[in-house]
Parts: sequence; C-alpha cells; structure tokens
Amino acid sequence: MKRLAILALFALFCGTASAEVTVPHLDIGKGGHCVNDPKFMKINHGDLLKKQRTITVHQGVIGRYSLIKCVNCHASRVNNSVLGTNSNFCQGCHVYAAVKIDCFECHSSRPETVSETLTEIGK
Ligand code: HEC
Ligand code: HEC
Ligand code: HEC
Repeated sequence: MKRLAILALFALFCGTASAEVTVPHLDIGKGGHCVNDPKFMKINHGDLLKKQRTITVHQGVIGRYSLIKCVNCHASRVNNSVLGTNSNFCQGCHVYAAVKIDCFECHSSRPETVSETLTEIGK
C-alpha cells in the first residue's frame, strides 16, 4: 500500500515532465520520513545539499541535509546503495531527468555511520 502511494506520488510529480520517457520506479530505500516534505525535497535538494556542504566544511557540523543521512535512508535494500541501477534512488531519477552529479566520486553511495565517515576523511 505504502509503496503504491509513493509510486503514485512520484508519477504525479514527474508526470508532466515528459510523456515519452518512462518514469522509473524508484526504490526509496528504508522508508520512514524524509528530512523535509518530499515535494519540497524534490525541488530543492540540490541546492540544500550544496549549502549543507559549505556549512559543514566551514563549521564542522553534521546538519539536517547531510549527504550521509540521505544515503543511509535512501540506499536500496536490494543492493545497499543509492546507485547501481535505474531503480536506485539518486541514479534512477537523475538518469530520468538527465542530471549529472559528481558527488559520489568522493562520497559513499552506501550506508555508513557518521563516525565511520569522519574517520575515513581524517577527523
Ligand atoms: C529517514 C529516512 C530519510 C532520510 C534521512 C532522507 N529521506 Fe528523502 N525521502 C524519504 C522517504 C520515505 C521519501 C518518500 C516520499 C514520501 O514520504 O512520500 C523521501 C522522498 C525524497 C525525495 C522525493 C522523491 C520523489 O520521488 O519525488 C527526494 C528528492 C529526497 N527524499 C531526497 C533526500 C535527500 C537529498 C536527503 C538527504 C538530505 C534525504 N532525502 C533524506 C526518506 C528519507
Ligand atoms: C525525484 C527525482 C530525484 C531524486 C530522487 C534525486 N534527485 Fe537530485 N536532482 C533532480 C533534479 C531534477 C535535479 C536538477 C534540478 C535541481 O538542481 O534541483 C537534481 C539535482 C541534484 C543536485 C544538484 C546538481 C547541480 O549540479 O546543481 C544534487 C547535488 C543532487 N540532485 C543530489 C541528489 C542525491 C544525492 C540524491 C539521492 C539521495 C538525489 N539527488 C535524488 C532529481 C532528483
Ligand atoms: C573531490 C571530492 C568531493 C566531491 C566531488 C564532492 N565532495 Fe562533498 N565533501 C568532500 C569532503 C572531503 C568532505 C568532508 C568535509 C568535512 O566533513 O569536513 C565533504 C563534505 C560534504 C558535505 C558535508 C558532510 C555531509 O555528508 O553532510 C556535504 C553535504 C557534501 N560534501 C555534499 C556534496 C555534494 C552535494 C556533492 C556533489 C554536488 C559533493 N559533496 C561532491 C569531498 C567531495
């Protein structure tokens, strides 16, 4: 039921974008509640993530829009990642929307704890 509702939501958001391209059935991952309203997130997440990066790098705080949090919750239970197939959350929608991001060249696309990440980057 929940899954159906989410797919319906997605179709609603993306339905007007292009009639020809098939909307991917995104694997949203763990579920629960997003860090903000999904409609708001859909429109603003790119800017929010880039702002969060600036804040974190300058002030050293893990904020509401930490990329680690997105990955921890949105990684698929099938392949434990937000990337890999066009059902995977970040990849699926970006392929559909023809958006390219380089974030995962450095950031992990798989869940890990904040402390693990900070250790990796030498904090
Ligand atoms: C605790 C889990 C959780 C976290 C953390 C989380 N999300 Fe979400 N997010 C969800 C769920 C569940 C949805 C599904 C939509 C709904 O609730 O209707 C969602 C929806 C979204 C959507 C809209 C998808 C669509 O199809 O329109 C985007 C974009 C999004 N999240 C991005 C992010 C980003 C970026 C982050 C990190 C800053 C993040 N989320 C953190 C659980 C999470
Ligand atoms: C429902 C569709 C959808 C999902 C899911 C989604 N994105 Fe996006 N993303 C977009 C679209 C469309 C854009 C381009 C418009 C914009 O910047 O908001 C974008 C832009 C971005 C940008 C800004 C790129 C730039 O060069 O400015 C980043 C960063 C980003 N997404 C990260 C993520 C991450 C990380 C995830 C997974 C946690 C994710 N997105 C999931 C649709 C999505
Ligand atoms: C060349 C490598 C590299 C690329 C590419 C990169 N980052 Fe980062 N990013 C880092 C490093 C290193 C840190 C650690 C900063 C810290 O925590 O002190 C960081 C920290 C962050 C943070 C704060 C910590 C967190 O997880 O919340 C965010 C948010 C973030 N980056 C978002 C992005 C986004 C969005 C993109 C893509 C548009 C991106 N980064 C691309 C290297 C990179």
